[in-house]
Amino acid sequence: MTSRLDGPLKVTGQAKYGADNNLPGMVHGYIVVSTIAHGEIQAMDVTAARGAPGVIDVYSPFDPLDLRTPNTQFGETWVPLQDKEVTYYGQPIGLVVAETYEQARDAAMTVTVTYHERPAQTSLADGLPSAEDAPPGFDGSPSTMALLKPGVSSIEDALAASPVVVEATYSTAPQNHAAMEPHSAVATWDSDGLTVYSGNQGANLQALELAQALDTDLSAVRSLNPFVGGAFGGKGRTSAAAFLAAAAAKTIGRPVKVVLSREQVFTATAGRAATIQNIALGAAADGSLIAIRHDSWCSTAMDRSFVEPTSHSTREYYAAENLAISQKMVPLNIPPTTFMRAPGEAPGSFALESAIDELAVALNMDPIELRMKNDSTAPLGRDLLWSGKHLDECFRVGADRFGWANRTPHGHTDGDWLVGMGTATAMFPALRFPASVEVTLRDDDTAEVATSGSDPGTGLLTVLALVGAESLDIPPAQVTPRLGDSALPPGGMSAGSTGTASVGSAIMIAATQLVDELLALASSPGAPFEGMEVSYAEGRVLASGRAMTFGELLRAVNRRSMSAVGSSSPGEELTKHSFSSFGAQFCEVRVHKLTREARVSRMLGVFDAGRIINAKAARSQIIGGMIWGVSAALHESMEIEENGRLANTDLAGYLLPVNADIAEADVHFVEYPDTLHNTVGARGIGEIGTVGMAAAVANAVYNATGIRIRHIPIMIEDLLA
Ligand code: MOS
Repeated sequence: MTSRLDGPLKVTGQAKYGADNNLPGMVHGYIVVSTIAHGEIQAMDVTAARGAPGVIDVYSPFDPLDLRTPNTQFGETWVPLQDKEVTYYGQPIGLVVAETYEQARDAAMTVTVTYHERPAQTSLADGLPSAEDAPPGFDGSPSTMALLKPGVSSIEDALAASPVVVEATYSTAPQNHAAMEPHSAVATWDSDGLTVYSGNQGANLQALELAQALDTDLSAVRSLNPFVGGAFGGKGRTSAAAFLAAAAAKTIGRPVKVVLSREQVFTATAGRAATIQNIALGAAADGSLIAIRHDSWCSTAMDRSFVEPTSHSTREYYAAENLAISQKMVPLNIPPTTFMRAPGEAPGSFALESAIDELAVALNMDPIELRMKNDSTAPLGRDLLWSGKHLDECFRVGADRFGWANRTPHGHTDGDWLVGMGTATAMFPALRFPASVEVTLRDDDTAEVATSGSDPGTGLLTVLALVGAESLDIPPAQVTPRLGDSALPPGGMSAGSTGTASVGSAIMIAATQLVDELLALASSPGAPFEGMEVSYAEGRVLASGRAMTFGELLRAVNRRSMSAVGSSSPGEELTKHSFSSFGAQFCEVRVHKLTREARVSRMLGVFDAGRIINAKAARSQIIGGMIWGVSAALHESMEIEENGRLANTDLAGYLLPVNADIAEADVHFVEYPDTLHNTVGARGIGEIGTVGMAAAVANAVYNATGIRIRHIPIMIEDLLA
């Protein structure tokens, strides 16, 4: 139970986020965005803007900043102003730089743009006929696949032969990450090169993208993100703000700050795709699954740069004799889509876990019993067993704690409220990325654990201190963690729920090596333990009844410090097991008899995610995810008008839950360290908290009202019937 180390700095306003940096001579850039969804820019009249007070320069596709398209292991990242094509409403098409933010903003409002407009396709439903096959999933698995029992000729035959079949179409709304900190950057050049302060999910990746975009040596680019005000996948790629600030600062020769307005965050970054999913489940009378078919369509931007893979994870959930999945994408004139917390799994689990609930109703079976009946020991079609799976225990513990036994098939009433309970399975793959960490011992008996990476609110900074302290066998208070600086060893991305497993493994390697070097130093010629058998415990070197702290030893040999870098990557374990975290989501929903408002009154998630490093932060992380699931179920939707304009680009119109919307939320972990996955034994908890929760809400709504809603968000008008 450790409070996050950066907590006091954050709540007292001392933490400096990207845009909090103000440099001498700094000027301000304001982005101009398109007001059509599809077409070509014919002209931009910037005369008034150039003549406006304080304006230094105006950039546009006619007078662009020099930027190249970066291409890293995560693919290409779009850079603004390089051509005159407009493919969505709200696309960055210009930058006005002035002495103050207000001057830049006011001048930007005077820019007039003439377009050659073309028809825009903005509706996923209308675009279905132009759907394209999606490329393979993140793990390389094909977008369309069927795993059929020998003798079964098609999934349709397997469904036709099933005694009980449910089939339905589900849909989910597009979402924006809505991180508290808008995307921003402060960029400055000096004789050493470029320094950029900008919140993102991986300092070294941002440095790499900026170096490529600006055609600069990587060693001359420094990216700093010690504090990040939320990311959730939306700050994985370098933002338009950072590219433009860096390029403008180079051209102008002064530091430049660019901050997106909240409205611009909705379009000039990227969000979660809308999805439509058709699921058919065929079962025997006892509930055993005979066939699962999951066909998905997601919206994607015209550059087809991201697919929301809702069908892929379905092969991981249940044992079934036959499975067929397909994943299609529909290119639309909409803002880009990208990773958002549990990409694929979050909207995919809404559909699958709603369908499982529908099957339980059709079978007249308890939905937990149905899920346990079809518990799998490995992903379908793969031989590798899960390294550990305690989903049954999650359901058992959760059902007890939540009072599931009090649930009836048709809910109950409490005064004017119809009350129902719902449940769902949550899964998220356990992954690791390559990471390097430097561990340093100092002569004042403190240690430092440093990696470039990012703590976008996940608690990774505190994890560095905790795992560092454990690895060095010293109290956490003696360890200083450092994060968010591309000059530090490459720490990978805070993405894919990988941070703790990736960085933690590297810390353990570095610490082991460092202790070995310390012992070698202690017994070396001229050192205090020359020629002796030495050992290490509790921060001290020991030999024949004598002990010295590492600080004392370093002082004795006139060393200020010693360091080791540890690197870890996913490896051999991938050939031996499948890895995933699991969870059981529970929620209680109350629907008012007359007003039909739906409120989640209680929720509980029980998770099997390997070892939990920091119980306090883990609980917050999971509760945040569960609230996000409620938010997807009852609140969030980006409303796209026919012309491609987003109608609700602010936090008044884009509904997010506030404290008054969220009642009791509880989390419990069944803790089985997974050392088959990595030496730390932690499997990652960043994303799984949101998976399944939207389905649990919809299932509870059904239990309370008898009304099955197959789209999210669920609105009052859906429940009027
Ligand atoms: Mo997160 S959606 O894995 O960046």
